[in-house]
Amino acid sequence: MTEQTNYLTSQNGAPVADDQNSLTAGERGPVLLQDFHLLEKLAHFNRERIPERVVHAKGTGVYGTFTLTKDLSEYTIADHFNEVGKQTETFVRFSTVGGEMGSADAERDPRGFGLRFYTARGNHDIVGNNTPTFFLRDGIKFPDFIHTQKRNPQTNLKDPQAMWDFWALNPEALHQVTVLMSDRGIPANYRQMNGYGSHTYSLWNDKGERFWVKFHFKTKQGIANLTPEQADILKGIDPDSSQRDMVAAIADGNFPRWAVNVQIMAEADANTYSINPFDLTKVWPHADYPLIEIGELELNRMPENYFAEVEQVALAPSNLVPGVGASPDKMLQARLFAYADAQRYRIGANYNQLPVNCPHGTKANHHQRAGAMAGTQCPYHGSQTGGDASANYGPNSGGPNSRIEGLSDTSQFIEPPLRLDGEADRYSRYNQDDFTQAGNLYRILPEEEKARLISNICGTLSQTTLDVQQTMVEHFTKADADYGQRIKQTLGL
Ligand code: NDP
Ligand code: HEM
Repeated sequence: MTEQTNYLTSQNGAPVADDQNSLTAGERGPVLLQDFHLLEKLAHFNRERIPERVVHAKGTGVYGTFTLTKDLSEYTIADHFNEVGKQTETFVRFSTVGGEMGSADAERDPRGFGLRFYTARGNHDIVGNNTPTFFLRDGIKFPDFIHTQKRNPQTNLKDPQAMWDFWALNPEALHQVTVLMSDRGIPANYRQMNGYGSHTYSLWNDKGERFWVKFHFKTKQGIANLTPEQADILKGIDPDSSQRDMVAAIADGNFPRWAVNVQIMAEADANTYSINPFDLTKVWPHADYPLIEIGELELNRMPENYFAEVEQVALAPSNLVPGVGASPDKMLQARLFAYADAQRYRIGANYNQLPVNCPHGTKANHHQRAGAMAGTQCPYHGSQTGGDASANYGPNSGGPNSRIEGLSDTSQFIEPPLRLDGEADRYSRYNQDDFTQAGNLYRILPEEEKARLISNICGTLSQTTLDVQQTMVEHFTKADADYGQRIKQTLGL
């Protein structure tokens, strides 16, 4: 029979008689080593932190629901994209990129928009940003780029010279730099911004046909941004402004919603389209590939335990499900490795057994066993490591008449083959137009926003060396002559 347990216990469940006074040798004497309750408290406290994410360390997580309003079975067998009206549980983690866990929310920085669908065929993650593009088109540059966004290793200060030096020497960043320095570079909160899958992914259907796809999440709250002056004040008053905004909205039942859209390209069109569709520094212009609305994302439930569910959530572009695949995008290819690797280090080898990470819509069945912290019960589908009766190897002869339960792979979910050609090489100059789309964005901005863009750029570019300023002016001029001229003039060059 279980006793009433609303008293404090130690980790082994034993009642604690005194949690306020250490065990000492005499009233004024030193503490005894046998005070194992004190030792447990101090030792566990020392282990409360896990490494923060190397990027996107500060974030807000919320559960929600995706409702499909357009059936996509013509393009994909993915369960959550089939059958109008189907609802799929989701989790979204919003974040800033460059700051540490305690940094202010209202920084000029891309915002992470990491979305998980808990589908009936496993977890599908789209780990995107609030920008349709990125600074780079090759993952080999990512660590260097992030070094310029984080603190200078000697001064421990943010370093505008490093940032602009890197952007000057990597003109492919110009489009994203224009997005970052525009009004949308400081969203007012996480509800009033769009999200983008950013990369090109693939969809495949039951006929073995592949399509290239981009995901867009358009806010139904309306876009709202902060001026640099508003942001500077808010950072001081409330460094957690975006977290607070989300907690309040969910508590008030004011559930934020996004219209989910896709752009779809037939597989073969990638070979002839004028833009390399796998270049993450580019969008697919809407005139060429219009948005198709397919559903609504609503966020409606805060996690109960921030550490367990938000700090330990392990979103990864490699979490794909049948009907959704990767693409040759070189950035995406690097990310397919980077996230799970980071999470094994940051959380531990069995991070996928945690309740926020295990599949909710189905059970994980595999031959992986043991490792640190193995054996967590998935609250949705029971033990994930398998019991004594299930085989821990494959192929095996398990089945109904066998003494072991067997698992088998299933060709029903085989992805269509992707035709590849070309010579293995390190290609650097396969797409040299770094400027047209940056210019297109500049040209669609209203005059007042152009003026703020110039001011935002020059605010930090003016703190850099003359050679960096001159190179950047050349880049801006190639995007748009007026853009370059106004920056040159504001810098006084
Ligand atoms: P469109 O005119 O069809 O699209 C313009 C896009 O720009 C819209 O998606 C709009 O988003 C977005 N936009 C509007 N105002 C701003 C702003 N102040 N800051 C940032 N984005 C804004 O033209 P294209 O498709 O040819 O794209 C032109 C440029 O627009 C691109 O070079 C790119 O920089 C930007 N863009 C394009 C997107 C795409 O997928 N094609 C997506 C987002 C931006 P909204 O409707 O939410 O206001
Ligand atoms: C987080 C690497 C590009 C969006 C992370 C993390 C790593 C990483 C290691 C931490 C993961 C974790 O510890 O859980 C990389 C690499 C990139 C890259 C190597 C390029 C090759 C991008 C791009 C986007 C993006 C292009 C968006 C389009 C995010 C988001 C998170 C994140 C949203 C936070 C996920 C969360 O909320 O937990 N990235 N990244 N990253 N990255 Fe990237």
